[in-house]
Amino acid sequence: MRKIKSSEITPEHLYLSRRRFLISAGALVASTMLFGACRPGSPETPDLQPPSPGTDELGDKITPYKDITHYNNFYEFSLQKEDVADLAKNFKTSPWTVTVGGLVRQPQTFDIDDLRRRFPAEERIYRLRCVEAWSMVIPWEGFPLAKLLEMVEPKAEAKYVRFESLYDPKQMPMRDIPFEWPYVEGLRLDEARHNLTLLATGIYGKSLLPQNGAPLRLVVPWKYGYKSIKSIVKIDLVAEMPLSFWVKQSAEEYGFYANINPEVPHPRWSQASERRIGEAKRRATLLFNSYDKEVTNLYQGMDLSNFF
Ligand code: MTE
Repeated sequence: MRKIKSSEITPEHLYLSRRRFLISAGALVASTMLFGACRPGSPETPDLQPPSPGTDELGDKITPYKDITHYNNFYEFSLQKEDVADLAKNFKTSPWTVTVGGLVRQPQTFDIDDLRRRFPAEERIYRLRCVEAWSMVIPWEGFPLAKLLEMVEPKAEAKYVRFESLYDPKQMPMRDIPFEWPYVEGLRLDEARHNLTLLATGIYGKSLLPQNGAPLRLVVPWKYGYKSIKSIVKIDLVAEMPLSFWVKQSAEEYGFYANINPEVPHPRWSQASERRIGEAKRRATLLFNSYDKEVTNLYQGMDLSNFF
């Protein structure tokens, strides 16, 4: 099976390249089963009302629940955003544990229900901007990652946080695609402790659905969406910068920092504007996704075009 070229792994450009890949890999029969006749019917999604006031702090409308839950990047299930909800609907998210360790004084394995009891959910309405240049406004529920980190007491040598998603080939159909699983992400420790950095457990007042990263996913609203790793099972405090999933696939195209920046184009497209799901006209992309007042100080003295 050939290795996927970096030019093929960018989602919005993937439809044709996925077909090429499937044909050349001789996997057409399997793909018909996954994407064709044997696909289960579309799960029912309630038509939920957005929480009041229905906008974020900039006055931008909250994205409909149906769009948030049916237009997903979760490659362990599918490269096709519209197929993830169906393919993930039987994903088992209970029981679930998250192991937090590495350079900490109090390593611990937490049960998800215990975590939810310990840290009552707060609502945070954030813009999510994908590296592919689409965006949504999502009313998350969750708790600051900083609270969990405090519990395990990071040692002085800890400089970064490394996150790992569950990878269970029995439940996740993308096992035949030669990405290097599991999905891994990382943050610098000060980014991880920032008050905006959330561990999300819900959307629209309901528990996360599998397609959105149930039962626990990261949300870092000033960074491209690929940093917001889903279905986390492991968190480690480490001394060196973790090698994250997309950097591993294509380091020229996807950086560790992934700070949203209209002035730093992706090598194959501009990042100056974005398509807000539900809107006809493109809108300008704003530095740090408009969270600049809160986060600019994290990057003092760094050349943002070099540390992309
Ligand atoms: N986490 C895992 N484990 N696998 C993935 O494929 N995709 C990322 C991120 N987290 C991804 C992931 C990308 S590229 C984006 S844009 C967001 O999840 C999408 O989140 P959403 O589907 O809830 O909108």
